[in-house]
Amino acid sequence: MAFLVAMFALQTYLVYSDPTGRELPQLSEAALEGRQIWLAKNCQACHQFYGYGGFLGPDLTNAASRLDRTRLDLVLTEGIAQMPAFHLTTAQISAVATYLQEMDATGVGQARAPRPNPSLVSAAVRDSFAHADPSEPAARGADIFVGGPCTACHAMLSPNRIGAYLAPDLSLAVSSMRDDEILGVLEMGRPIKGMPPSGLTAEQRRDVVAFLHWLADRRPSLLEAGLVGQELGLPWWEFR
Ligand code: HEC
Ligand code: HEC
Repeated sequence: MAFLVAMFALQTYLVYSDPTGRELPQLSEAALEGRQIWLAKNCQACHQFYGYGGFLGPDLTNAASRLDRTRLDLVLTEGIAQMPAFHLTTAQISAVATYLQEMDATGVGQARAPRPNPSLVSAAVRDSFAHADPSEPAARGADIFVGGPCTACHAMLSPNRIGAYLAPDLSLAVSSMRDDEILGVLEMGRPIKGMPPSGLTAEQRRDVVAFLHWLADRRPSLLEAGLVGQELGLPWWEFR
C-alpha cells in the first residue's frame, strides 16, 4: 500500500511538473488580430484548443493543417451545421487563418489515430510486387491501382474516410462487399456518391478485385509499414 501511495505521489509530481505546453506561444501581429476576433465572437464557446472550450464543434488546435482556405472561407462566412454565419470579411478570415496556423505550430491538440503514410504504403506494395509474376492478376491490379487515378480519392489503408469525396478505405472493401458488387461499382461507379465509373476493361476490373483481396490479406503488415517513423508529439502522460 505504501508503495502504491508513493507511486501515486511520484506520478502526480511528474504530471504536474511536466513543462509541455506551458510556454505561452509567441504570436505575430496578424495572429493577435485573429485572436481578437476569436475572443470577440466567442468561438471558444463551441471549439477547443488543447481540449479546453465548448464541445459543440471540433477541436481547432490543429485545424490549420487539415483545412484549406476555401473551407475556412465557407465556414466563416456562411456558417455550417450548428455553427452560425459570422459573415467575416476577407481580412478577418485571413487573420483567423493566421491565428489557427500559429496555434497549430505550438503542438498537437488532441490524441488522434496515426494515419498510415500513403507513400510508405505504396512503396511497400510496390516492393511486394517487385519480383511478382506479371501475369498474376493481383500484380496487374496493383499496377492499375498504385499511383493510378483511384488514389486521388481513396487511401489504400486509412482509419478514416479521406478526401473531398470521403472515399472509403479499400483494404476493407472485400470484407463488406461481394466480388460481384465491387465489380459493379467499378463498372458503373456510384456517381451520386462521388465514385465515377472506373473506365477499366472487364479484365482490368477483375485484376483490381484480385488486388483488393491481396490488400485485405496484407492489411496488418502494410499498416505497420505505413506508420514507420510517426511521432504523435503528445506529452508522455497523454492518452494515446
Ligand atoms: C454555436 C457554436 C459555434 C460557434 C460559436 C463557432 N463554431 Fe465553428 N463550428 C461549430 C460546429 C458545430 C462545427 C462543425 C460543423 C460540421 O462540420 O459538422 C464548426 C466548424 C468549424 C470549422 C471547420 C472545422 C473542420 O474541421 O472542418 C472551423 C474552422 C470553425 N468552426 C471555426 C470557428 C471560428 C473561427 C469561430 C468564431 C468566429 C467559430 N467557429 C464559432 C460550432 C461553432
Ligand atoms: C473521384 C473520386 C474517386 C475516384 C477517382 C475513385 N473512387 Fe472509388 N469511391 C469514391 C467514393 C466517394 C466512394 C464511396 C461511395 C459511397 O459512399 O457509396 C467510392 C467507393 C468505391 C468502392 C466501394 C467501396 C465501399 O466500401 O463501398 C470501390 C470498390 C471503389 N470505390 C474502387 C475504386 C477504384 C478501384 C478506383 C480506381 C479505378 C476508384 N474507386 C476511383 C470515390 C472515388
